[in-house]
Amino acid sequence: MSQFDYIKDIAKFGLENDQEKLFTSLNELIEHSKKTKKINFAIQLQSLLKDAIRQQQISGLTKVGSIKHTIREDDREANEFIIEKITSDYRFGNLVCNDEVRSELKYFIQEHNKIELLRSFDLPVANKILLHGPTGCGKTLASYVISGELQKMMVVVNLGAIVSSKLGETSKNLAKTFKRAASEDCIIFIDEFDSLGKVRDYSQDHGEMKRVVNTILQLFDYLPQTSIIIAATNQQSMLDNALLRRFDLSIQFDLPNKMQIEALIALTLKNGKFEFDNKIIAKNIIKNCLGLSYYSIQKTLITAIKRSLFSRVDEKRIPIITKISTSVWKEQIVLEKKALGVIK
Ligand SMILES: Nc1ncnc2c1ncn2[C@@H]1O[C@H](COP(=O)(O)OP(=O)(O)OP(=O)(O)O)[C@@H](O)[C@H]1O
Ligand SMILES: [Mg+2]
Repeated sequence: MSQFDYIKDIAKFGLENDQEKLFTSLNELIEHSKKTKKINFAIQLQSLLKDAIRQQQISGLTKVGSIKHTIREDDREANEFIIEKITSDYRFGNLVCNDEVRSELKYFIQEHNKIELLRSFDLPVANKILLHGPTGCGKTLASYVISGELQKMMVVVNLGAIVSSKLGETSKNLAKTFKRAASEDCIIFIDEFDSLGKVRDYSQDHGEMKRVVNTILQLFDYLPQTSIIIAATNQQSMLDNALLRRFDLSIQFDLPNKMQIEALIALTLKNGKFEFDNKIIAKNIIKNCLGLSYYSIQKTLITAIKRSLFSRVDEKRIPIITKISTSVWKEQIVLEKKALGVIK
């Protein structure tokens, strides 16, 4: 059967309200998509199906206080703490980093690709990873790479909403969210992990922070080995030591050096449609980029590319390769540095 045949069946059974056959066809399409290497599509369908089944099991009239009612309430609340569920096509080629970061990430990915091997030797699988370092240096991007390389769905958790000023509430929210996210074989991504530190400001009571840390440690321990937790922070010092120790891996992301800036530029210009109007000046500008993040450098370069393109719009024929104005790029870098307070 082709993909279209499955879609026709799904439409037919959907319109006929034949749930059983609809679910069977959907499962067949999921299997077909996996075989034809449309893994991300298969993962998304699988998640939709799971959600629908779960929803059905707990829908309908429920009695307050019954188990079904409690699950439904917990689900509703947990969903509020989940920003999005995504799949990713990012690969290692999208990330510029030093050899150490690359090798650590590669080993981490290997652990999950070779999970059966590790299990057969009773070896634990590393599944909790902390990414830290300054803003705009690829922490979120690296999480997309992990998701893309492993072809696993990523559930992005809204820690800002989970952390509550109400006593005991943060722990409860965390537990609900983890339980919900871990019910699927996925990556749980907790960005701005340092916002947990707010608990300390909210409550003078030392016990509250302890409670939160304990909850997280427990949740970490109960996490199925196929699930992965990625936490990211640009303020590692805000985090409790007891918590830091529980990560299997802690990876430091840094500002780019000259070689990495060159690699980032090559990556940004990889479609071959743009090149610098003066390579020597461009080389000099790269030196000026030191101290800026990958994000800032890429942003200024893209702005220069767009402006160089606009300046050619009036020409009758836009050439196949557009020259990037190095003077515009240089100007943008100065502006970026001023905006960040790097220079006055
Ligand atoms: N190491 C990198 N390699 C390639 N591109 C990068 C890298 N770091 C950042 N970028 C570019 O900058 C964008 C923003 O980076 P990203 O969101 O990963 O930063 P971050 O470290 O998560 O920052 P924050 O701490 O503010 O969340 C990326 O989508 C990518 O376009
Ligand atoms: Mg980020």
